[in-house]
Amino acid sequence: MRRAPATALPGPDPVVRHDWETLRSLLPYVWAYKGRVLFALACLIGAKAANVTVPVVFKLLIDGLALTPGQAVIVVPAALLLAYGVLRFSTSLLTELREIVFARVTQQAVQRIALQVFRHLHALSLRFHLERQTGGLTRDIERGTRSIGSLISYTLYSILPTLVEIGLVIGILLMQYDAVFALITLATLTAYITFTVWVTNWRTALRRHANELDSAASARAIDSLLNFETVKYFNNEEYEAHRYDEQLDKWIQAQLKNQYSLSGLNIGQAAIIALGVTAMMWQAATRVASGEMTIGDIVLVNAFLIQLYIPLNFLGVIYRELRQALTDIERMFGLMHENKEIADATDALALPPGPASIRFEAVGFSYDPQRRILSGVDFEIPAGRTVAVVGHSGSGKSTLGRLLFRFYEVQEGAIRVNGHDVRALTQASLRAAIGIVPQDTVLFNDTLFYNIQYGRPDAGRDAVEAAARAAQLDDFIARLPQGFETRVGERGLKLSGGEKQRVAIARALLKNPPILIFDEATSALDSKTEKAIQAQLEQAAEGRTTLVIAHRLSTVMNASEILVLDQGRIVERGTHAGLLARNGEYARMWTLQQQEAAQEPERA
Ligand SMILES: Nc1ncnc2c1ncn2[C@@H]1O[C@H](COP(=O)(O)OP(=O)(O)OP(=O)(O)O)[C@@H](O)[C@H]1O
Ligand SMILES: [Mg+2]
Repeated sequence: MRRAPATALPGPDPVVRHDWETLRSLLPYVWAYKGRVLFALACLIGAKAANVTVPVVFKLLIDGLALTPGQAVIVVPAALLLAYGVLRFSTSLLTELREIVFARVTQQAVQRIALQVFRHLHALSLRFHLERQTGGLTRDIERGTRSIGSLISYTLYSILPTLVEIGLVIGILLMQYDAVFALITLATLTAYITFTVWVTNWRTALRRHANELDSAASARAIDSLLNFETVKYFNNEEYEAHRYDEQLDKWIQAQLKNQYSLSGLNIGQAAIIALGVTAMMWQAATRVASGEMTIGDIVLVNAFLIQLYIPLNFLGVIYRELRQALTDIERMFGLMHENKEIADATDALALPPGPASIRFEAVGFSYDPQRRILSGVDFEIPAGRTVAVVGHSGSGKSTLGRLLFRFYEVQEGAIRVNGHDVRALTQASLRAAIGIVPQDTVLFNDTLFYNIQYGRPDAGRDAVEAAARAAQLDDFIARLPQGFETRVGERGLKLSGGEKQRVAIARALLKNPPILIFDEATSALDSKTEKAIQAQLEQAAEGRTTLVIAHRLSTVMNASEILVLDQGRIVERGTHAGLLARNGEYARMWTLQQQEAAQEPERA
């Protein structure tokens, strides 16, 4: 069971290089608190020096007592005893001081990194976020930040102190005694560390396998319970139990292997230490016998060894945790290296506030190169006017809004606001000028008030209430027991589709921007509410540059221009009356919708 498989060691080089890079990228965050770091290091060295001096004093004590049998020389041992106590105490004192001083460094480094990653994630493109699973992202950040804490504490509280201690002990051994003692210590430590790292690398794979089997077993149990009814329909309880048991069997095998390998690791470590200690004691004993060394010396050497090997006991665990922490941090920093697809040009202008005209100039666009979404889209919305876009589902209407908002860059042509290419404007100023009521509204899991106020976080209560009224939300809110303070649930799921849409309208109105985009802003409303809100929207659009996207043609009749989009091309354009007169696609859609409306009894 304990034999290592041939695949034991992963190539150390690339791994080690990665680890160093990760550590290096972490350094600036810690080094920002230079004073504290240096102080903590001083405490660390002080504590270890005190710790190493304890056995030395102990040796002097023993030698002092041994050399003066019968004679009552009380002074020497008393001073030494005092020193002994002080040294022991200062070891603990300095260790605690170090923790007190350093705790803040760790926490603040974690805070700064978490914040930076969070900012960066918000700066990444919509494309990135659509492709990633949000749950996975937050887990990466959470694990990464937690690992920074453990990495710093393992390094600072375990590895570095042990290294300092090894250095001090070997130094003392070299200065005081024959070089053979330092050599034996060094050889034992090298053997111990190599063995531990090697076995731990192998065990990591074992542990991962055991964890995977564990997850698989619980996934099987959950899936089986989720299918409770199906299991009953087919009388398959025994079959399910058998399948679960099979999975548990595999997991137990892996667990046992894991346990055996741990014991193997411990036995091997103990053997190496025993060998080292025996060799040292052998050397010391022969020298005591020949009079080269005192009894105190042999006690000192023994104490050193024990002091060194105790921290080493945790080496396996610490090494494994350290590797895990480095992997997690690397993943998190990987997010930081994710490029921003949309970035401000270095000489980007801020769009001046005030009325804005919009021009799409022969715009061509595709989300992925294989499939074209828009071609040669060319239109203008003069400042203060309304242009409507209609067309079949998937024809590219919402894409127009996304491009104007600069969630994506156009591949051909240009989009201009007041004559400026949107690529030459700062994203912040461009987006501040645009209010969007999106096709699908997602709300924050907070109160109605919070969600409406989100349109302009510094807006007062009156402004929020006015916006709610304009969006026909006031009756609904008045009926709620908690009114504006009602919580809307995760993503707003406790509201109906129409209510969510009205919240979105309210917050866009509250933002009060010169440009408005309504993407099917009233599609989820019944015709009565839609009519009521339509008036409000038209009033809101007055004096603003507005792009309206709609399925229901009756809502866009008054637009100054209507574009009919088909497979990413404008196939017809004109006013409502003009398009009807043309008797083309628009006229067909209009007739169809009029018939439907006549057949359907008016919805309440
Ligand atoms: N992020 C994306 N990646 C790849 N393809 C996309 C992406 N978003 C949209 N599409 C595709 O682009 C096409 C146009 O989408 P768009 O949302 O603009 O359609 P639409 O005209 O608004 O349709 P609807 O009336 O159903 O809202 C669709 O076929 C859609 O599948
Ligand atoms: Mg759409």
